[in-house]
Amino acid sequence: MVSQDFLKELPKCEHHLHLEGTLEPDLLFPLAKRNGITLPQEFPQTVAELETRYGQFKDLQDFLDYYYIGTSVLIDEQDFHDLAWAYFQKVHSQGLVHAEVFYDPQSHTTRGIPIEVVTRGFETACQRAERELGITSKLIMCLLRHMDPQECLQTIEDANKLISNGTIHGIGLDSAERPFPPELFVECYEKARSINPEIQLTAHAGEEGPAKYVSNSLDLLQVSRIDHGVNSVHDEELMQRLAQEKIMLTVCPLSNVKLQVVSRVSQIPLQKLLDANVPFSLNSDDPAYFGGYILDNYYKVAEEFPHWDHKVWSTICRNSIEGSWCDAKRKNELLSRLDQVVAKYYPLN
Ligand code: ADE
Ligand code: ZN
Repeated sequence: MVSQDFLKELPKCEHHLHLEGTLEPDLLFPLAKRNGITLPQEFPQTVAELETRYGQFKDLQDFLDYYYIGTSVLIDEQDFHDLAWAYFQKVHSQGLVHAEVFYDPQSHTTRGIPIEVVTRGFETACQRAERELGITSKLIMCLLRHMDPQECLQTIEDANKLISNGTIHGIGLDSAERPFPPELFVECYEKARSINPEIQLTAHAGEEGPAKYVSNSLDLLQVSRIDHGVNSVHDEELMQRLAQEKIMLTVCPLSNVKLQVVSRVSQIPLQKLLDANVPFSLNSDDPAYFGGYILDNYYKVAEEFPHWDHKVWSTICRNSIEGSWCDAKRKNELLSRLDQVVAKYYPLN
């Protein structure tokens, strides 16, 4: 097995991180108090009880029920800024160099918080992360697929200025996957493209849903990558397409176990993806809920795939850099950092 020091020093990129999913239980309660939010009566009363409950999610929906209660304690621009800033500080110490982060404006606008307030809080934290920590980032606005697609279309329109000026770099689709297939959101994605033809597009698919949701996201929404996507391995033709078109899957190992997509990390079809040349990155999804940030995910995968040598890890890291939405200059910087780290630990190769 490669060393933990090597994994830590790799210049890591994260492409599947929900900023609201970084809300740790020990911040949730103080924020609820400060903002005068009454949590539901049946909600755990202490950090320890909440952590225990987080260890028992039955599936995606069970998690989402807690996740949306968590988001309800975020009110002011400063709350959003502090949340994202705490994330960037944490992952800086884990060797993260570039992050493409999701946020769910609809979970805030439906509570009367303007999209500009949410976005500004997150955006200023991203700018601070670049200035103070050297971490580059992009913001991806997700649509909640359990909501009426017409309301999602309205959200795209409300974000018109943020999409056209590039503050929102990408559009994603998250929340309960079944029974909300990608075809419901064709108009939303078309609208986003018409506002800014340069907008990047992605969608959660193939987490709990079938491989068909992955191919339909590619065909109908015209996404250039897929979040999760692990169920793609059940469709041979799709696998060939992902490899040929270099569609990256943003895989979330600890999340897949916590939401019972698989029973352990070794069952995630990472070896199949590698063998089929399907690019993937490793990500933390909602680290405060799933027990680990980016490096914890790398460590766990290394532990469960102990035969992977530095060449395999170098491929994963390279694919993760190349599948990022940063410009060529930044990609080249990160690729040279990768070469330096590999040369430091494996000078004879
Ligand atoms: N929202 C936050 N995390 C999510 C996940 N893993 N799948 C779908 N929606 C989400
Ligand atoms: Zn996710």
